[in-house]
Amino acid sequence: MKKKLLVASAATLSIGLALGAFAHSGAMGIVKERMDGMMVMGKSMKSIAMMVKGVKDYDADTIKAAAAAIEKHSGENMTKLFPKGEKKQKVSVAKDEIWTNWEEFEALSMRLQILSQGLAASADKGLSGASDSMMGNSSMMGSGSMMGSGSMMSDSNMPTMEMMAGMSPNMIFPMIAGTCSSCHTKFRTEK
Ligand code: HEC
Repeated sequence: MKKKLLVASAATLSIGLALGAFAHSGAMGIVKERMDGMMVMGKSMKSIAMMVKGVKDYDADTIKAAAAAIEKHSGENMTKLFPKGEKKQKVSVAKDEIWTNWEEFEALSMRLQILSQGLAASADKGLSGASDSMMGNSSMMGSGSMMGSGSMMSDSNMPTMEMMAGMSPNMIFPMIAGTCSSCHTKFRTEK
């Protein structure tokens, strides 16, 4: 009798400890997992930006590693962390539109993955001569047909490796950044 009680309280204690560890970080389970993935992508984007903007010396291997990290946390690896009918956690800023507009959400995540693959493939080319401002204003990078938020969702506008074959990392980087912010604008509430 006494022994049984001891076992029970030990189990309660370990459950309590596990919950405590999760509560400490705010998010739990799958929500924590996707937030961690997003944070990794944020760091990767920062390291790419430093090179694309010329703050740091260009290093193809660093670009490839950052692109690989983004690839790993995008596409299906990202969308599977947004299960349908998930229990809403307070810390989550995911909008319900994710699940009512799943195809578009999924397309953005796929787009991110393809772009990250294109970035990795372009890394050895180094930066092209175009200046930042030129890149920013060109019709391709702006709100033109390719980046336009409406048309870009259709499959025919999904980037392909072939399409990116002639692009340098500083051309692909703004497309990636645009994809992060498109999704956040549409599917994430302000904190
Ligand atoms: C397909 C949609 C989508 C794409 C693409 C996307 N995100 Fe997110 N991101 C979200 C959603 C939704 C959340 C909020 C998740 C939540 O709170 O449950 C989020 C949250 C975040 C957060 C906050 C994490 C936290 O701990 O609160 C960061 C940082 C972030 N994203 C960075 C990025 C970066 C960088 C990229 C591009 C490389 C990117 N995201 C691409 C949908 C996306």
